[in-house]
Amino acid sequence: MIVTIDGPASSGKTTVAKLLAKELGFLVLESGKFYRLFTYLLLKSEKEWRALLTDEERLKAFWKRILPELKIKVKKEGTAVYFRGELLEKELRLPEVEEAVSIVAKVEAVRKLVNSLLRELSKDKKLVAEGRDMGSVVFPEATLKIFLTADEKVRAERRAKDEGRPFEKVAENIKKRDKIDSTRKTAPLTIPEGAIVIDTTSLSPEEVLKVVIKELHKRGL
Ligand code: C5P
Repeated sequence: MIVTIDGPASSGKTTVAKLLAKELGFLVLESGKFYRLFTYLLLKSEKEWRALLTDEERLKAFWKRILPELKIKVKKEGTAVYFRGELLEKELRLPEVEEAVSIVAKVEAVRKLVNSLLRELSKDKKLVAEGRDMGSVVFPEATLKIFLTADEKVRAERRAKDEGRPFEKVAENIKKRDKIDSTRKTAPLTIPEGAIVIDTTSLSPEEVLKVVIKELHKRGL
């Protein structure tokens, strides 16, 4: 059983996914972390990373080299990503990763590689999966699909506060990523068919959770 939560940057997906997973005893699949991981390792290992993005065979070879060194734990508290035994957290939030991640994530070959790992990790699990294309592409069979939105300024304020970063910088990055994510050819950010849309601008995470639980109850779950 899978509940998907999609939406633009900083709309509250991860926070709500974690609250919901705790309530239901489900695991949290944070799909954005996989694109951040791909981007982080690509930037670290390839000076000419942009050139690699147009070469599917080299991208595949890169990912094949990386995979044996990765360990992913899909847990109730979130998704933990380890590379060569080291937990990656702040690395995935580096400004250079935030700048490049949407450019990397719009490449079809990258999405194929990430999606096959996501599907493998999701087998036989009860999941809350959050991202941009969880309900539309990766888990179209999901039991419940949620799409979160929020005022752009409020989203930037939330992230700037959470990460202690300057509002202007965060706002600019969110705008750029949303534009690339929603206009790309492959799996653009979109409201999945049948999704419940929740505007979180003036709602607390607990209030959003209540709406989601109500929707689950409506479906007899
Ligand atoms: O959710 P998060 O902000 O961590 O995602 C980082 C980036 O990864 C997004 O801006 C988007 O470019 C990409 N992403 C994606 N598809 C997903 C999840 C994230 O393209 N399902």
